[in-house]
Formats: sequence, C-alpha cells, structure tokens
Amino acid sequence: MKRIILMTVAAAIFAAAPVAMAAGTVSLPKGYEKWEKSKQQIVTDKKSLFYGIHYTYVNSKAMKTYKKGGTYPEGSMFVVVQHGIRQEGGKPVPGKKSMIVLMKKDRRYKETGGWLFAGYTPQGKPSGIDPVKNCYECHLKDAPDRDLVISRYADFR
Ligand code: HEC
Repeated sequence: MKRIILMTVAAAIFAAAPVAMAAGTVSLPKGYEKWEKSKQQIVTDKKSLFYGIHYTYVNSKAMKTYKKGGTYPEGSMFVVVQHGIRQEGGKPVPGKKSMIVLMKKDRRYKETGGWLFAGYTPQGKPSGIDPVKNCYECHLKDAPDRDLVISRYADFR
C-alpha cells in the first residue's frame, strides 16, 4: 500500500511541473500494451490523494531480471498506466487514464542511474518533467538495491 501511495504522489508532482526536459522528447514505445501486464494495483480511498488504479507493463528484455533480481540489460523497459476509478456493480474498475510513465534502461542517461525516466499525458504526449528531481530521486530511495525498479514481480499476478 505504501508503495502505491508513493506512486500517486508522483502523479501530483508531474501535473505540477510542466518543465521541458531532454527526456521529454522520447516517445512511448510502440506496442507496450502487448507486453506482460500486472494485475490492477488499486487505492480505493477517495479521501486519499492517491486514489486510482494502475497497471505495469514489462518488456521481455526486462522480465528475467524482474523475476530474479540483478542489473537490467540495455533496452529493458517498464510502462505504468495510471487511471482513476469507476464503480461498476459495486466493484471498482479503471476509470479515465490520468498519466503514463516510462523507464528504459539506456546507459547514456548517467545522471538517472542508467535509466531514461519519462512522463506522458493520458494521450501519450511527453509531459516534460524533470526526471532527476521528479523520478530518479524517489526510485533511488525506494529501490537502491534493485536497479531502481520498485515494483516486484511477486505483486504482478
Ligand atoms: C514519490 C515516489 C515516486 C516518484 C517521484 C516516481 N515514482 Fe515511479 N514508482 C514509484 C513506486 C512506488 C512504484 C511502484 C508501484 C507499484 O508497486 O506498482 C513506481 C513504479 C514505476 C515504474 C514501473 C517500474 C518500477 O520501478 O516498478 C515506472 C516505469 C516508473 N515508476 C516511472 C516513473 C517516472 C518516469 C517518474 C517521473 C516522471 C516516476 N516514476 C516518479 C514511486 C515514484
């Protein structure tokens, strides 16, 4: 629960910081919707700032390390799609998309631990956030020993 709450803090940060940065020029990878996908991760407390449902997509290059740990190979990618919540027959289901984020292992991005971090609007347009302050620092704090990947495969299914 704590981890999911943190993720949504991030959502608030991106919305508040529309500053153009280099990482903001990279497009979302094509076809990520076909990658292996987590079950829905949900925060149903409406009073919480962190209200929402998200899914994590993982590409095949990242999967081995995601399961076993260690350092991710170049080209590993994670995409998270965040939604609001709708009630359907008393059950929470994903509502409107609110944001998309990407991590891609790319050694050129030295100042963010060898990962490209990028945030996108629900339509997939770069939202132009500062990846060091608004992404890297939180990932470094939460997952210094997992190559900056916070979620776990164990929570996936
Ligand atoms: C306040 C802390 C925080 C900030 C800031 C933050 N994240 Fe995350 N991020 C998280 C947490 C917590 C998760 C794990 C969510 C889960 O368990 O499903 C996560 C997961 C991810 C994932 C899936 C891979 C992984 O690490 O599990 C990506 C991709 C991602 N974030 C990208 C970004 C990007 C890009 C930014 C900046 C635009 C960003 N994050 C900013 C906390 C943060």
